[in-house]
Amino acid sequence: MTNRAQQALDVLDDAGRKVLFTEARTANTFAEVAVADDELAMIWELARWSPSAANGQPLRVLFVRTHEGKERLVRHLDEGNRAKTLSAPAVAILAYDVDFHEQMPTVFPARGEMLRAAFADQVDRRESLAAYNSALQTGVFLLAVRAAGLAAGPMAGFDRADVDEEFFAGTSWRSQLVVNIGHPGADPWFPRRPRVPVEDALAWA
Ligand SMILES: Cc1cc2nc3c(=O)[nH]c(=O)nc-3n(C[C@H](O)[C@H](O)[C@H](O)COP(=O)(O)O)c2cc1C
Repeated sequence: MTNRAQQALDVLDDAGRKVLFTEARTANTFAEVAVADDELAMIWELARWSPSAANGQPLRVLFVRTHEGKERLVRHLDEGNRAKTLSAPAVAILAYDVDFHEQMPTVFPARGEMLRAAFADQVDRRESLAAYNSALQTGVFLLAVRAAGLAAGPMAGFDRADVDEEFFAGTSWRSQLVVNIGHPGADPWFPRRPRVPVEDALAWA
């Protein structure tokens, strides 16, 4: 029996590849153009389809849109990340849930109760799985921002313990990345930095 493709998958056209990959940039200034909550919700509608181990989906997102919220956040950012964050119409604090296993019966119905029980005492393993898989989901989240016609400015330059204390005290969420979201402002891009040469990045077996 031949194993012919049963379903032809769509291919993203050149315009889509530019929006998501080849011409997408990291924004460092933002225009004074509002980003509606509906747009932020739409970003999540796309990002939530990311793959993750055992479909565990540990990524959580706190959208900060108010000036007060941004003031609370920027105190904990590296100096160089403060002005652009205050200028961004929306900021996402991406976090992972160390208690993601509580959702296993919902997200993996066939083996959820078994997985939840197996993870119950494995605090360190949950933490490392949550950090790894939420980072994977984060990459998809950044593409979702771009797919929504917006620019993203991811930043790891902040004090994670302080941000957790400020926003997530008493919860199972742990901050991982702060992402500015908006329309690019004046002079928004740093010079494009080179990518690792293909011959150094790829191996073939
Ligand atoms: C995990 C991560 C952490 C980053 N942290 C910072 C940061 O703290 N401050 C900053 O200005 N840019 C930060 N960046 C932005 C990167 O420098 C930028 O995405 C990279 O140079 C590629 O730029 P390009 O998208 O314009 O080509 C970060 C990006 C990522 C993905």
